Amino acid sequence: MLLRFLVLGAFISRIACYFSEEKFPEESTMQPPTVVIAIIARNAAHSLPYYLGALERLNYPKDRISVWAATDHNSDNTTALLREWLTVVQKFYHYVEWRPMDQPTAYAGELGPKHWTNTRYEYLMKLKQAALNFARKRWADYILYADTDNILTNPDTLNLLIAENKSVIAPMMDSQGAYSNYWCGITPQGYYRRTAEYFPTRQRHRLGCYAVPMVHSTFLLDLRREGMKQLAFHPPHPDYSWPFDDIIVFAFSCRAAEVQMYLCNKVRYGYLNIPAKPHHTVEDDRINFVHLQLESMIEGPPMHVSRFVHVFPKKRDLMGFDEVFLINLRRRLDRRDRMLFSLNELEIDVKVVDAVDGNALNSSDIKILGVDLLPGYYDPFSGRTLTKGEVGCFLSHYYIWKEMVDLQMDKALILEDDVRFQPNFKRRVLRLLEEVKLVELDWDIIYLGRKQVNPGNEEVVENVRNLVVADYSYWTLSYAISLQGAQKLMNADPLSKMLPVDEFLPIMYDKHPNENYKSHFPNRNLQAFSTHPLLVRPCHYAGDPQWVSDTETSTLWDDDAVKTDWRGSHKTLKGAPPPQMLQTTYRDEL
Ligand SMILES: *[C@@H]1O[C@H](CO)[C@@H](O)[C@H](O)[C@H]1NC(C)=O
Ligand SMILES: *[C@@H]1O[C@H](CO)[C@@H](O)[C@H](O)[C@H]1NC(C)=O
Ligand SMILES: *[C@@H]1O[C@H](CO)[C@@H](O)[C@H](O)[C@H]1NC(C)=O
Repeated sequence: MLLRFLVLGAFISRIACYFSEEKFPEESTMQPPTVVIAIIARNAAHSLPYYLGALERLNYPKDRISVWAATDHNSDNTTALLREWLTVVQKFYHYVEWRPMDQPTAYAGELGPKHWTNTRYEYLMKLKQAALNFARKRWADYILYADTDNILTNPDTLNLLIAENKSVIAPMMDSQGAYSNYWCGITPQGYYRRTAEYFPTRQRHRLGCYAVPMVHSTFLLDLRREGMKQLAFHPPHPDYSWPFDDIIVFAFSCRAAEVQMYLCNKVRYGYLNIPAKPHHTVEDDRINFVHLQLESMIEGPPMHVSRFVHVFPKKRDLMGFDEVFLINLRRRLDRRDRMLFSLNELEIDVKVVDAVDGNALNSSDIKILGVDLLPGYYDPFSGRTLTKGEVGCFLSHYYIWKEMVDLQMDKALILEDDVRFQPNFKRRVLRLLEEVKLVELDWDIIYLGRKQVNPGNEEVVENVRNLVVADYSYWTLSYAISLQGAQKLMNADPLSKMLPVDEFLPIMYDKHPNENYKSHFPNRNLQAFSTHPLLVRPCHYAGDPQWVSDTETSTLWDDDAVKTDWRGSHKTLKGAPPPQMLQTTYRDEL
C-alpha cells in the first residue's frame, strides 16, 4: 500500500514538473560585464577624432560602459573636442564622469612635448589612480585604459580581451616601426631589456597571448579578481626604487601583487603613435599623425573619425610646387582613396592623373602612340623585354612631363599611388625646397623615393641638408621635377626607344651602367639628386604577402593575351634585405 502511494506520488510530481516546465520561460541570457573606459587626454586634438571614432565603434553595449574622462594642461583644442563628444554620447553610456581642467596650459618648467618632469609623471599616475578608484567604487568588472594616440580599429577588441580571462591584458598595438606597447624583458633596475622574443612577437611570427613583464598604453584590468585589490598607479609601492615613470610604477605594482601581465597578438587590434617619452623617443621631435593612418590603411581596418565631433576641413597647399601629381590607375580606387586620405592629413593638395592602363592597350594602340622598344632592352632580372605595364607606367609619367612643358610649369612633384610618407614629410619637403633655392642649385629631378641600386656613399650636396647626387637608382615612387628637367626628358624623344621609366631616368643623368642603352640618348645631362634619407617608401616590399608584382603579372608589350597592370617599376634587387631590415628606424630606441 505504501509503495503504491509512493509510486502515485512520484507520478503526480512528475506531472507537476512537466506543467511547470511548460509554464515558465527559460532563464534569460547574462548581460555582458560592466566596463569603465578611462580617457586621459592631453594635447590630443590631432588624434582624438580617430580615437573617439574607434571607441564609438566598439562592439560592446554602451549601457554596460561608463566613461571616465579627464583632460588638463592643454595648449590645443582637446578640451573642447572631448566636451563636444561627451555631450552627445553621454546618453548612450551608462554614466559619464568628466574632469576637465582648463588652466594651466603646461606644467611648470616643462620644455616641450618630449619633456617629462616628475610633476608631469606624478600627475598622470594620480589621474590613472583616480580612474581606478572610480571603477572600484562603482564595482565595475573591468577598466580599460587606452591612450589617446592608440586607435582601436578592431571593434571586437574589448570582447576579445575579456574572453582571454586574464587579470591584466593588453592588445598588441601596431606602429610603422618596431615600437609597440609591451616589453618582453625588464632589467633588475626596471628598464627595457632586449629579448629574443620581442621581434618574433611584434612581427607576428608567433601568435598568442604571452606573459610579459610590461604592457602599457592600452590594457584591460579585471577588477573582480582578488589580486587586483593591491594594484596602484599612485603612490608607488613603498619598496619602489625603479625609474619614476607611470608605466614602470604600474608594472612594479603588478609584480609586487603577483599579478601577471599578458600581451595578445592573435589578431590586429589597432595602431599606436610613438609617444613623446624620453625612454621611448625617436629621432624626430614630432611624429606626424598621418603615419598612423597610412599604416592602418595598408595593413588593417581603416580608421574612421568620430561621427560626433566636428572636424574642420584641412587647409591644403602645394608646398610651393606648381602642381602635385598623383598617378593612379582608375581601377585601383583603394590606392587612390588611401593616398587622398593621407595627403589630406598632410595638408597637401594634389591632382589625380589617370594612369595609362597597360591592360587597356593593345599592340596596335601602342604602335599608334608611336611607342617602340629600345633595341636590345632586356629586364636585368627576368631577362624578358618590356611589359605593357611598363609602357603604361612610362606613358603616365611622360604625359605629366608634357603637361609641365605645355603649361610652362616651374616645378612639380610626382607621386605614384603606393607610397608611405616618412615622418614630417611636408616639413622636410618645404625645408628642402627652401635650401635648394637658397644655394641656387641647378636641379632637374630630386628623388624623394627610389631604390639605390649600389648602396654606398653618394656625393653630398653642400649646404643643403639631406641631399645627395643620385647614383644609379630604380623606381619612380616620387620625385620633384623642374621645367628644365621635363624639357630635357621630352627632348630625348623617349617613346620611340622605350625602356622602363626608372631605367630611362638614370640614363638621362648618365649613371646607367649599360653603354648600349646610353648610346641611344646623346644628351645625358639631367641634374639628378635624391633626398637622403628618403621621404617616401613603397607600401610593400617584394616578398611581403601583400606585395603584388605588377611586373610578373604584366604581359609583354606586344602580346595581347594576358591581363596586366600599369606599372613596371617595382623590380627588386637580388639579395635585397627583407622588409623588416629596411625599417629599423625605431629599433634602437626601444
Ligand atoms: C575646438 O573644438 C570645438 C568643438 O569641436 C569647435 O567648436 C571649435 O571651433 C574648435 N576650435 C578650434 C580653434 O579649432
Ligand atoms: C577564468 O579564470 C578563473 C581562474 O583564474 C576561472 O576560475 C574561471 O572559471 C575562468 N573563467 C572562464 C570563463 O574561463
Ligand atoms: C585595339 O583597341 C582599339 C580600341 O582601343 C580598337 O579600336 C582596335 O580594334 C584594337 N585592335 C586590336 C588589334 O585588337
